[in-house]
Amino acid sequence: MSEREHWGSRTGFILAAAGSAIGLGNIWKFPFITGMYGGAAFVLAYLICIALVGFPVMLIEFAIGRRTQRNPVGAFKALAPGTPWFMVGGLGVVAVFVILSYYSVVAGWTLGYIFAAISGAFHNLAEPSQAKDYFENFGADPFKTIICHLFFMALVSFVVIKGVKKGIEKWSKILMPLLLVILVVLMIRGLTLPGAEDGVNFLVKPDFSKLNGNTILVALGHAFFTLSLGMGAMITYGSYLSRKENLLSSAVIIVFLDTFIALMAGIAIFTAVFAHGLAPDGGPALIFHVLPTVFPHIPGGYFFGILFFLLLFIAAITSGISLLEVVIAYFTDEKGWSRKTAVIVFGGLVFLVGVPSALSTGPLADWKIFFGMTFFDFMDYMSFKYMLPLGGFLMCIFVGYYWGAKEFIDEIKSGNPAFSLRPVAAMVLITIAGILILITLVTGILGVGA
Ligand code: PFF
Repeated sequence: MSEREHWGSRTGFILAAAGSAIGLGNIWKFPFITGMYGGAAFVLAYLICIALVGFPVMLIEFAIGRRTQRNPVGAFKALAPGTPWFMVGGLGVVAVFVILSYYSVVAGWTLGYIFAAISGAFHNLAEPSQAKDYFENFGADPFKTIICHLFFMALVSFVVIKGVKKGIEKWSKILMPLLLVILVVLMIRGLTLPGAEDGVNFLVKPDFSKLNGNTILVALGHAFFTLSLGMGAMITYGSYLSRKENLLSSAVIIVFLDTFIALMAGIAIFTAVFAHGLAPDGGPALIFHVLPTVFPHIPGGYFFGILFFLLLFIAAITSGISLLEVVIAYFTDEKGWSRKTAVIVFGGLVFLVGVPSALSTGPLADWKIFFGMTFFDFMDYMSFKYMLPLGGFLMCIFVGYYWGAKEFIDEIKSGNPAFSLRPVAAMVLITIAGILILITLVTGILGVGA
């Protein structure tokens, strides 16, 4: 077997992992769920979930990946030979298909919106209702949605085919700083709008009467999604790490960057929304229905509109790359495929699986395959609500009760000899994370959560 590729530098790894974490979840999903679930009180619940669940599960994934130097399936096979634990990794590989297939469709919309912004299409959108019509017309056009989805998958495949160092790392080092610069520009634009303080207050002044069980469930589910946890993406990225890297500080930086970017995106968006007296609770369409009507009214709006959708697109592509890499790592490690063949076959297959999602806002809008959901909604629902939390929960059980807290701590110590934690303390932390995830899953299944 050829030598496993490794990251060229620690910065490269951190930017790639942060690129995976920072995605549509931060810039599209976080602002709209914050808007829907009460602003600052939700943000607080989310921060607690990130600390109690997101951070430990990220460390678990890095430790499993680095120890085994394998894809998610191979990793569990190596640590628990002859047991069914490898199925946890298998669940991850399946989840990738599901997520990437619809994630690519949304990323495709952002691409379509970059072109719309460039062509000046937002200029005539004075009211959110007009932007809504615009979005619906865009989504209903199968040609546009499929081409944009195809283009996104082609770009993701182009990067992944080049490998860990020359593809993923190289592009993350270019795209992530660019993302940060664009976001800072947009945030400053938002903060300098008249009435911007209402948007900031919305994010930082909690109204605890808004906090209820449901808010916490949504916050926990989102913590998973936003940090790319539960399906082995971080196991895969961890598997390209050498034993001398410090896992703990890397995880701290990645979690911090992800949270920081989400909050900055929240500021950029809510300052603009409040400055125009629009409602913050626009739901999933907030970005597509509300923001295009804001841009024409602000100085430099043409330019900021293009930048905003470019920002979303960059965020999406680095996450898409990490999703595809999970499947590619599996087929190259376990089945001995060449990277090129694996990318062509599975990039193509993910595209095909995504086609019904791309058509779900158009010709297949009435095809309700399950519980009255369109194909797109079903894919989102299955992965977000069940697959990722289930994967994360099983990983906690695996580390806490099979592999063992001592091995886990030893792995964290490698590259960080000063680290010290008693196994029993690690067990308690892992158990708390596991119980919180289990509560989310069960309440989700019982239909209590959102
Ligand atoms: N973390 C990404 C986001 O916030 O958009 C989504 C994601 C990427 C989830 C990769 C899972 C994953 F493995």
